[in-house]
Amino acid sequence: MRTISLVNQKGGVGKTTCTINIGSALARMGKRVLLIDLDPQSSMTIALGAKGASPTVYDVLRGNCSVSDALLVHGKYVLLPSSIDLSAAEQELAPVAGRECVLREALEADLGPISCDNVNGSTPKTDSSYDFLLIDCPPSLSLLTLNALVAADEVFIALQTEYLALEGMTQLLATIDLVKKRLNANLSVSGIIATQYDARKGLHNEVVSTITEAFPDKLFKTFIRSNIALAEATSYGLDIFEYRPKCNGAIDFAALAKEIEGQG
Ligand SMILES: Nc1ncnc2c1ncn2[C@@H]1O[C@H](COP(=O)(O)OP(=O)(O)OP(=O)(O)O)[C@@H](O)[C@H]1O
Ligand SMILES: [Mg+2]
Repeated sequence: MRTISLVNQKGGVGKTTCTINIGSALARMGKRVLLIDLDPQSSMTIALGAKGASPTVYDVLRGNCSVSDALLVHGKYVLLPSSIDLSAAEQELAPVAGRECVLREALEADLGPISCDNVNGSTPKTDSSYDFLLIDCPPSLSLLTLNALVAADEVFIALQTEYLALEGMTQLLATIDLVKKRLNANLSVSGIIATQYDARKGLHNEVVSTITEAFPDKLFKTFIRSNIALAEATSYGLDIFEYRPKCNGAIDFAALAKEIEGQG
């Protein structure tokens, strides 16, 4: 099983779009995928049509329920949903010893047999072994993101090929290094995903060159092109393969998922 956190404290760079569509592409390749929404904005939960789900990852972090109690089956993959309550978790967990490790412990405790015949009426899933856990992080280097970094073995950084794309990277990499030193020796950055790329824009190509120079082995060969269908799909509660299976967004995410699988 590969546990991957999608991070960038910069907002709107494509973390959620990547999490949903990489997850969906991997599921279509026959991989068993668990998507975890660790963002109080709940964008992934909303985008997958699960707004208002209860219990959520917040209840899991508070110790009110187990991971399997909160899972929802969505098409070919499984979602651990979020809700706005999660914004309180930062403060509520602050005095807790080992507060950065709560998610990891909950996942470890509970990826045993899963039967999620839960409030949302999803079909029971008894085979509990996943090939991929993908964690969608909030746009901050908060306690929630630290929990994601402690729970994961790998980090994917989503970078928009825009002005100031690398702004904040030093701080992000320093945080990842610190987590690796103190809390999770297994952690590594295994990929940088260029998002919202437009080959016609000179600036985008300049940014790609800068990223390639700075991180020669990290940038995935597949770039996620700017494609309005990706934004539209989200608004319909669909992944890109359900919405427009032949569009550039679907082609790019299918190619990226193949690259990711090839890393394993
Ligand atoms: N490749 C793309 N082409 C066109 N639009 C995109 C693409 N990727 C993402 N978007 C759109 O850009 C916006 C931000 O994307 P997304 O929500 O995935 O970013 P995020 O990093 O998760 O944001 P946040 O930091 O707020 O969680 C959304 O409206 C999304 O639909
Ligand atoms: Mg997001």
